[in-house]
Amino acid sequence: MIVLDGKIASAAVKEEIKQQTAKLLASGKRAPHLAAVLVGNNGASETYVASKVKNCEEVGIRSTLIRLDADVQEAVLLDTIASLNADAGVDGILVQLPLPKQISEQKVIEAIDPLKDVDGFHPGSAGKLVQGLPTFIPATPYGIMLMLEHFNIETTGKHAVVIGRSNIVGRPMSILLSSNLKRGNCTVTLCHSHTPNLTELCLQADIIVAALGRPEFVKAEMVKDGAVIIDVGITRVEDATAKKGFRIKGDVAYAEVAGKASAITPVPGGVGLMTIAGLLKNTLQAYVSREQ
Ligand code: GUN
Repeated sequence: MIVLDGKIASAAVKEEIKQQTAKLLASGKRAPHLAAVLVGNNGASETYVASKVKNCEEVGIRSTLIRLDADVQEAVLLDTIASLNADAGVDGILVQLPLPKQISEQKVIEAIDPLKDVDGFHPGSAGKLVQGLPTFIPATPYGIMLMLEHFNIETTGKHAVVIGRSNIVGRPMSILLSSNLKRGNCTVTLCHSHTPNLTELCLQADIIVAALGRPEFVKAEMVKDGAVIIDVGITRVEDATAKKGFRIKGDVAYAEVAGKASAITPVPGGVGLMTIAGLLKNTLQAYVSREQ
């Protein structure tokens, strides 16, 4: 059984990016620049954005964090995005989700210039992904593809079961795995809360991607011997004995599933780190396309 260690795979991706940004700077060019917008102070969002900023710094990508109050009006956020769109020195824009309820996430996503849409959430980016055209791939499914590539996991001809149909993870994941990309060519079953025979479907899977946000949902009895298990879950579960008062739990019951799997991602230390690697790759790509 291989542990698909996100530290190892993301370090390799980050090293490549670092070398590319070092070359840019050495030739007198400016550094790629990511603008991250954080609204309010949701604990998990704070942690993710801080990690994105720190990782940018590590690979030579400039980052600017824009913080807005939790009660900010939608129009103010839309104006902020409009100025970032207009700023020639900004290559990538991300607005951390979820947003407070007075703000329409859809409007915000659609306000971002598709050329700077490093999260790949704009409907134009999603449409291109469906048609197999070059675009920004949402960071988590992109990171998972990079992880499969790094550990040389064969996907062609395999049956992949994706659990969860979100626009951020499940749906784009199903498209990538079924595409004719190097780590695609799977037969994909996309499951969700209305799928009646989930256990039977999972038992047929060579690859399971669990992205439903329910801690330890995938149990050993749902997994075929030798399956590859990708755990996207990162739910904070209260635990008085933990230092911060909570623990991060994945969507897979790791201890029991690891015994059956041929490869499995840990939580934490698996997909989360690859998400950041995907974002960094997208930011560099945004820079390169805009500079051309
Ligand atoms: N919230 C959860 N995942 C993501 C992500 O990948 N990008 C953004 N912007 N917000 C998120």
